[in-house]
Amino acid sequence: MKNIDSKSHVTGKSIYLDDIPTMQGCLFAVVLGSPVAHGTIQSIDYSKALSMPGIVRILTHQDIPGENQIGGIFPDEELLAAEEVHFQGQPIAVILAKEEHLAFEARKEIILKIKEHPIVVDAREAQAKDHLIMPPRTFRKGKLSSAWEECAHIIEGRAQSNGQEHLYLETQGAYAMPLENGNIKIASSTQGPTAVQRMAAKVLNIGMHHLEVDVRRLGGGFGGKEDQATPWAIMAALGVQITQQPVKLVLNRIDDMRMTGKRHPYDSDFKIGLSKDLKIIAYEATFYQNAGAAADLSPAILGRSLFHATNSYDIPNVQVTAYSCKTNLPPNTAFRGFGGPQGMFVIESAIAKAAKALKISTYQIQQANLLQTGDVFPYGQKAEDVLLAQMWTELEQEYKLRAIEKQIQHFNKKNQHFKKGFSVMPITFGISFTKTPMNQARALVHIYSDGSIGVSTGAVEMGQGVNTKMLQIAADTFSIQRSKIKLESTNTTRVANTSPSAASATADLNGKALLQACHALLDRLLQNAAQHFNANPKDVFIKNEVVYLQDQATDLTWAKLVDQAFLDRVCLTENGHYATPIIHYDMKTEQGTPFAYHVYGLALTEVTIDCIRGTYEIDSVKIIHDFGKTMNPTIDYGQIEGGLVQGIGWMTMEEIRYNEQGRLLSNTLSTYKIPDIYSVPKEIKIIATKTEGHELAILKSKAVGEPPLMYGIGAYFAIDNAIKAFNPKANFQADAPYTTEKVLMNLYKR
Ligand code: MTE
Ligand code: HPA
Ligand code: MOS
Repeated sequence: MKNIDSKSHVTGKSIYLDDIPTMQGCLFAVVLGSPVAHGTIQSIDYSKALSMPGIVRILTHQDIPGENQIGGIFPDEELLAAEEVHFQGQPIAVILAKEEHLAFEARKEIILKIKEHPIVVDAREAQAKDHLIMPPRTFRKGKLSSAWEECAHIIEGRAQSNGQEHLYLETQGAYAMPLENGNIKIASSTQGPTAVQRMAAKVLNIGMHHLEVDVRRLGGGFGGKEDQATPWAIMAALGVQITQQPVKLVLNRIDDMRMTGKRHPYDSDFKIGLSKDLKIIAYEATFYQNAGAAADLSPAILGRSLFHATNSYDIPNVQVTAYSCKTNLPPNTAFRGFGGPQGMFVIESAIAKAAKALKISTYQIQQANLLQTGDVFPYGQKAEDVLLAQMWTELEQEYKLRAIEKQIQHFNKKNQHFKKGFSVMPITFGISFTKTPMNQARALVHIYSDGSIGVSTGAVEMGQGVNTKMLQIAADTFSIQRSKIKLESTNTTRVANTSPSAASATADLNGKALLQACHALLDRLLQNAAQHFNANPKDVFIKNEVVYLQDQATDLTWAKLVDQAFLDRVCLTENGHYATPIIHYDMKTEQGTPFAYHVYGLALTEVTIDCIRGTYEIDSVKIIHDFGKTMNPTIDYGQIEGGLVQGIGWMTMEEIRYNEQGRLLSNTLSTYKIPDIYSVPKEIKIIATKTEGHELAILKSKAVGEPPLMYGIGAYFAIDNAIKAFNPKANFQADAPYTTEKVLMNLYKR
């Protein structure tokens, strides 16, 4: 089944936030951000700006009736800065104007006097100064201190990975409108409608019931709208509360890039110990996470870095510590993988460095240590249904790993100015929000009296195809035509207390709730049919909109059955609720079973570098992936390709740069490069590994949103191997992204 949005996307008819027709009297909001990265506000002169044409009002912290606070995990972030500013672009005021361009004009005329303070932008420097978001966390397994003595080889090093701009096509935005009696409706481009509702209620000092948040779809979120869509929605709502006029706030690209957080840069130290036969006996690492100026989701992201610190390997002795470091950058936030990629990059760097020291292929160490069923992760969960060994066999048989290695060696011998490299990237990714209470969802299903159906869930469609999957679930459960079902917008008055659509778990959580609601309705309908047939409900079923009795088609159609049930006063509405069973976690002991299941995979990446220019091409990425039993191959393959390319972008070309004043230099699409049609792999192959799937996955179709991003990490190591073929003296350094400039420097490093 195709994505139900594909036609309207291609024809431009899909409605995004900025396409919602504005009402008469709508005001347009533009945000004034701090020009400095750290300072004390001494005075602000709004007088000239306020006197300009079309300017209706300028909102500041003084206009906030409730708490000036938007911190989700810790209350450490103001909506509008009151006295201190902590990063460039931090919102200070919101200009409301009759036209957007007038607000931009007025913004230039606001005179700010800020006393500047010294800033910190580096995570290690922040840690040394004890600027921490929270105390460090450590995961332990076995006994590290004595394990080093057993090691034949011990390798130490440092690994750095940079941030990543989400670059959702649709920038952050919200449109709020007044309803009667102080109620406000907010259309928001958010992954977390309830987060918007909850925080806005706090800031506006009203009950959550006064706020209705509605989300049609997002033009991409990638984690950047898990909680960072919230401030803009609150600002618009605050404007409504104060002016009683509709307010629309849509960030332009430059404001979006400078005011919002990104993937967290990590700077890490590692130490890895191997036995003579290449078993990893000990692994120690310290992660310095650059959190930016407020906690945002950093603590949870730090946790996932620890959960995935050993990636796909069974290591008996482990100690990994992570610091969340407070710096004067925009608060960094969720980004596809949620800290997992950063943790995995460190262990892959450690293994790659060890392989180079031992003059062997990296995959020999990877293969010798692959996780197996029954192994225990450092956090205490037992690994189940591990498919990695089976996948490795497929890697050799289907993709001819060893033949490729030989071909590349041969190519490199024959070619002087072009060199090839390859890598294998295994992934193991845990599915569930690591905070157990977040793993719940609800769905509301109405069967209308003509047999058509409206489905509401807490899932937000952001391009990942979750609405298509929801529609499939409903249509297949009732066995009716898909055209009879409509996926409603995500709305807090229909489905309340939602978790954000995140953690790749949206289809699992909302799909299971929906499945429950549909089954309850189906049971009632079959019971009603059975009553009329004077038969046992067990003998009645529906197939292709026809009711069957004891395997015989009857005259009763779906539409007639619904009508009959309605006349019999059967309830045709149902609310489903789902909470993931079995999962639990104790942060005090750092032990538990945080994940419903894991997703496994392998990617084989081949690259060619031009050793004169330092440029490179990704020749191919060949993937073996654990979909479980995919319920929609078209969508899931799309997620693999998109995730992979996004991961390659992070590892190779996307380079976020701030200057010493904490100013974002890569603040437009001309200075921040993401993969385009010319830089994507020339070939992407995907094989679905054979498996039964998992009971806790929706229809045994495993979560697919985030895991493939981590296949992109393979590109870094493939490039490094190609460099090594040209310049054997090039020291391995883990410093992503591997931009063309860095490749060139390493090619000629002596
Ligand atoms: N795919 C598209 N097209 N757009 C997105 O914004 N977000 C990713 C992933 N795939 C995203 C996407 C992220 S970060 C997550 S957590 C999941 O989708 C969320 O959706 P899911 O839970 O339905 O997989
Ligand atoms: N993943 C993604 N988003 C989240 C998580 C998680 O584990 N926890 C809180 N938000
Ligand atoms: Mo995804 S980073 O969990 O929104």
